[in-house]
Amino acid sequence: MTTFMHKSIAIVAALSSITFAAPLAAPLRNRQSTDGVCVDGKTKVFMPELYNVYYYPGVAPFPSRATTINVFNEGRDGGSAQDQVVRWSNLPSGIENCTIGYSQAAERAFSVFDNGLVRFAQLSSLPSPVTSETVPGVAIDGAQRGALDFTSWPQTTGAAGHIGGPVDCGAEVVVRMYKDMSASGGAGSVTLEQDSTNGFWLEHSC
Ligand SMILES: *[C@@H]1O[C@H](CO)[C@@H](O)[C@H](O)[C@H]1NC(C)=O
Repeated sequence: MTTFMHKSIAIVAALSSITFAAPLAAPLRNRQSTDGVCVDGKTKVFMPELYNVYYYPGVAPFPSRATTINVFNEGRDGGSAQDQVVRWSNLPSGIENCTIGYSQAAERAFSVFDNGLVRFAQLSSLPSPVTSETVPGVAIDGAQRGALDFTSWPQTTGAAGHIGGPVDCGAEVVVRMYKDMSASGGAGSVTLEQDSTNGFWLEHSC
């Protein structure tokens, strides 16, 4: 991993800034998801599984899990990029109105460099293994469903929630997060450590 990171200014910058932003990261890291709290007929499920999808020139695809959101795109020819496939599983049957988004708590490990717009597409299932070779392109399996803009949000103190958009409900919801260069997208990186109040969530009826 270390050699790959040195190839990417975006990753090195993202990881080095975490140290300054995460006073409470350690005690929160091992908490379980806090789903089950019903507010106004809705509940949010935090801490989905994260699967890294590396696009590193000259490096063979390999699977990798993560607990930290990390999506980036260097945005130049032959540059590196990383998507993440996100999975919520064991969701209750009969749930409705599934929406995904992300939250940042007052205490978080969160950094964004340059453009922080992350688009998402829903996948019909989790590829196995999850790599750049097995994750289907957006055109093949799932058009873009929405986007989450992380740009400038680390500079905001206090808690904030961000809605991405609706997804189809199911026992399992699988979404690919990626940065592309079109429209308001652009080169940049997003890093946010997940815990019970930070990171991606799926909201559904309860
Ligand atoms: C889902 O959303 C619709 C439209 O807002 C609402 O009418 C319906 O009651 C919701 N379903 C549940 C189970 O909350």
